[in-house]
Amino acid sequence: MQNLVETKDICMKFPSGDGWTEVLHNISIAVLKNQLTMLVGPSGCGKTTLLSIITGILTPSSGKIFIDNQDISEFTDDEKVLLRRRKIGFVFQQYNLLPTLTAAENAAIPLIADGVSLKEAVEKAGKIFEQIGLYEHRDKTPNQLSGGQQQRVSIARALIHNPNLIVCDEPTAALDEQNGIQVMQILKNISQESDKAVLIVTHDNRIFKFADRIIKMNDGRIIDHV
Ligand SMILES: Nc1ncnc2c1ncn2[C@@H]1O[C@H](COP(=O)(O)OP(=O)(O)OP(=O)(O)O)[C@@H](O)[C@H]1O
Ligand SMILES: [Mg+2]
Repeated sequence: MQNLVETKDICMKFPSGDGWTEVLHNISIAVLKNQLTMLVGPSGCGKTTLLSIITGILTPSSGKIFIDNQDISEFTDDEKVLLRRRKIGFVFQQYNLLPTLTAAENAAIPLIADGVSLKEAVEKAGKIFEQIGLYEHRDKTPNQLSGGQQQRVSIARALIHNPNLIVCDEPTAALDEQNGIQVMQILKNISQESDKAVLIVTHDNRIFKFADRIIKMNDGRIIDHV
């Protein structure tokens, strides 16, 4: 199977006091196409930092990151922005929906930002909503939706530009078990589409069963691959 993401010897230091704290130590991992990979570990072990490096939001102190065999450590900031816009979809614990827009408009935002007309973008959102059981809710605003429905809107927003890599930081942390499982089923299905991969950072042991692979971290190090 092919790698969609590969990191080689990533180290990350943050300034602290009059010195530096190293929060990631020589992280080498792969995220394979057609798999749902989970990155798990205790609070503060470096999961979000690693996700931010993989997606080009943070630049590591050293090491390399390949996405689809492209070395993004060599990318300019503009190239990283384009990479995120075209190839990566994000899902967060907090859904980050805009309160005055409808569900479909929220999901359409990345396309509108890319110059697609509102009408076309909202139609595309409607198609994704059909697949994830949200179509009847498309004209509601976020405050008229449950947490699970809002998270599904944020998944639709992550999918709307058809990215290869979907990264999720604690996507089920704010959901009850039933909604968490529904969200995971959607993410699992996406991971099985051609050339795609899903990478999920989580503490939530209720969802471990959805993983094809689990990468365990502790204190800035990879301690196990299952
Ligand atoms: N911008 C920053 N400046 C300084 N230290 C930081 C910064 N970002 C993160 N850290 C530190 O790096 C370590 C890892 O943080 P990170 O947010 O990656 O952890 P995490 O595994 O995602 O934790 P959680 O499960 O609580 O979200 C922590 O000790 C944190 O305090
Ligand atoms: Mg985190």
